[in-house]
Amino acid sequence: MAVVIAVAQQKGGAGKSTIAANLAVALAQAGHRAALLDTDPQKSLERWNALRQQRPKAVPLDFHAPAGWRVTGTLDRLRRAAEMVVVDTPPHVETDARLVIRAADLVLVPLQPSLPDLWASDATVELAEKEKRRWAYVLNRMPASGRLRDVILAEIARRGAPVFEPHLGNRSAYPAAFAQGLGVTEASPRNPAAAEIAALASALAASSLGGLRRG
Ligand SMILES: Nc1ncnc2c1ncn2[C@@H]1O[C@H](COP(=O)(O)OP(=O)(O)O)[C@@H](O)[C@H]1O
Ligand SMILES: [Mg+2]
Repeated sequence: MAVVIAVAQQKGGAGKSTIAANLAVALAQAGHRAALLDTDPQKSLERWNALRQQRPKAVPLDFHAPAGWRVTGTLDRLRRAAEMVVVDTPPHVETDARLVIRAADLVLVPLQPSLPDLWASDATVELAEKEKRRWAYVLNRMPASGRLRDVILAEIARRGAPVFEPHLGNRSAYPAAFAQGLGVTEASPRNPAAAEIAALASALAASSLGGLRRG
């Protein structure tokens, strides 16, 4: 049975699609049978995946963009067929996001280092907790130092909230790779973005072997 990782956050622009695509690519490159599911009606990953088809550098990826009512069926099927399933979700806590969170073994909540963004993520976190899902923040576009970083890390520590590391930097390699239908590990393997995504993917894979998987 696959581990299902939902990338969810009520706030648009937090980095859900970027992180979902890059993680799926890095997991596939690391030899996992990885699937990527786009459940956002905006379908940005579907477009990204279409660009991918013309890229010799693109690793094979089991990609699906099921329409609303097909999401559950596709997830059930992939849970049996794949090893790691990464799911991108719509930018609001509505039916589709709720369904996916309910089905997930882990909910990753991308968070940019600002307090309003942290507050905006509360609804997603509350939903994950209500559904008794394991969840963790992934800090995205995180500066290497400075006040923004200190404030957000202090507030997260005060709350005792879980964070999946490493944090991801604010790097033009992300939009540049995305625009080519690639992950950063494919488009610019020597960029620090590639190293941090590969490390995040391997931390996720390791934690899934350590008991994320449902019985
Ligand atoms: N770590 C990052 N560094 C630089 N740009 C980023 C990063 N993460 C996301 N972005 C950019 O921010 C914008 C929103 O990201 P996206 O993944 O589409 O967010 P969401 O899916 O949550 O709406 C995109 O233009 C994307 O390229
Ligand atoms: Mg998106």
